[in-house]
Amino acid sequence: MTRRRRIYEGKAKVLFEGPEPGTLVQYFKDDATAFNNQKKGIITGKGVLNNRISEYLMSRLSEIGVPTHFVRRLNMREQLVREVEIIPIELVVRNTAAGSLSKRFGIPEGTPLPRSIIEYYYKSDELNNPMVTEEHITAFGWAAPQDLDDMVALSLRVNDYLSGLFLGIGLRLVDFKLEFGRLWENEEMRIVLADEISPDNCRLWDIKTNEKLDKDRFRQDLGKVEEAYQEVARRLGILPEGGPVDVKGPKTVQ
Ligand code: TMP
Repeated sequence: MTRRRRIYEGKAKVLFEGPEPGTLVQYFKDDATAFNNQKKGIITGKGVLNNRISEYLMSRLSEIGVPTHFVRRLNMREQLVREVEIIPIELVVRNTAAGSLSKRFGIPEGTPLPRSIIEYYYKSDELNNPMVTEEHITAFGWAAPQDLDDMVALSLRVNDYLSGLFLGIGLRLVDFKLEFGRLWENEEMRIVLADEISPDNCRLWDIKTNEKLDKDRFRQDLGKVEEAYQEVARRLGILPEGGPVDVKGPKTVQ
């Protein structure tokens, strides 16, 4: 068994050096945090489910021409990804009022928004991920205007595609958060979708009952958290056989 070099550990994932230059192994943990780390817990099997769900969604997006960092899933908890330079902006797309938008503007949760709204947050745990505008992003050099244009265009495509995909399995895509990275190929840079897309960073409500099937179950102590993630995987038709059986720790890559 070879031990891989740990590059970075985040709240829900660990990045290890990949098998070839320019690649990384993304390991999905069961750890869950909310409210910028103030609430901590474990959602058993979450890492396995998010690995699978993110693989599925990134693959579908790639098929419609959205560039992503995803290469392939390696095992239950790990996927191979292209190494990118993460742009320190979290881009949130909202279709229905919920969460911090409802709180900030006093709009009841569940109110449909007149159009999809995009928000930017600066990725900094120390600063508690403050909301920022395009002005901050370009003035402080976090992203160039062209990068931002690409990120917005990609996010809107992701929103259209995923809203339809989830609607087809009886789920409303209320909102979600995306991260992007810069990928260099022969002196050329392109912006690609990075991180993960899973119930950790999407709000998904049952179309008929409005039942929450995402991390809000953990944030708001609603119970049945594992079950919610499993239900999303089940509806996508990708629930791992025998349920989310664990694999311990990172192992040798193929
Ligand atoms: P919010 O309503 O709390 O601002 O969250 C909007 C969306 O972004 C929601 O789907 C959850 C996701 N999100 C993250 O993925 N990471 C975060 O740190 C936060 C605050 C939200």
